[in-house]
Amino acid sequence: MTAQIIDGKALSAQLRSEVAQRAAALTAQGTKPGLAVILVGDNQASQVYVRNKVKACEDVGFHSVLEKYDASMTEAELLARVEALNNDPSIHGILVQLPLPKHIDDHKVIETISPSKDVDGFHVASAGALMVGEVGFKACTPYGCMKMLESIGMKDLRGKHAVVIGRSNIVGKPMAMMLLAANATVTICHSGTADLAAMTRQADIVVAAVGKRNVLTADMVKPGAVVIDVGMNRDDEGKLCGDVDYNGCKDVAGYITPVPGGVGPMTITMLLVNTMEAAERTAAAK
Ligand code: GUN
Repeated sequence: MTAQIIDGKALSAQLRSEVAQRAAALTAQGTKPGLAVILVGDNQASQVYVRNKVKACEDVGFHSVLEKYDASMTEAELLARVEALNNDPSIHGILVQLPLPKHIDDHKVIETISPSKDVDGFHVASAGALMVGEVGFKACTPYGCMKMLESIGMKDLRGKHAVVIGRSNIVGKPMAMMLLAANATVTICHSGTADLAAMTRQADIVVAAVGKRNVLTADMVKPGAVVIDVGMNRDDEGKLCGDVDYNGCKDVAGYITPVPGGVGPMTITMLLVNTMEAAERTAAAK
């Protein structure tokens, strides 16, 4: 079997064009969606990520603000900036790029963002809303994975077994909650799992989100399963690759996401979707 590729770039383009239409309609009614991105320090990867986020906002017609600060910024100064953005009516979403310099407590910063502007979905209130099925913002990467499943007709996952590899707060745990909310039977595997292959071989859907190459190889995949690769790693030649042995798994899986061009573009797309939603909620409450 050769797996069908779930093209994250094409799906993103479609979703972003829908966001652009909603943004134009809301702007015409007097509310232009606005995202503020804060970057502290000079992490190279973060600089690229934030540039892409700001560019994506401009492309769909959002107002976007990029605030860049020196690594010497104090925690108190950063908290004050977040508070100011919480009170700024032109801003509907706030994203503080992680990682932050070591002297700043990320948790404290995230908890200072108003849950109504937490478009990253990292606030405890957002995580809690997902857990209990209340209205909140969903973490962008797992939300993008759910949209990819929907795009292949897998919206209701009743009767499906989903195995998530990884238990981070920003991907693995919210991913498991979203799959559960879609009625899947969910197993979360991690570094303490005794026999990972025995788990993944039972899976109709595998989501690999560990940050290590070749976590999932062809012998670990049930024929016809859906394989979603959240990883972003470099191979020995410095080329971008995921957590999944793509060349091996594509001959066994029914569907697979490539790296690059899979989950990556979906993460920024869902940030736009969340910001759009934040702006629409604000406008509706006026
Ligand atoms: N650093 C790496 N990915 C992300 C993300 O999705 N959001 C934020 N805020 N920081 C990140």
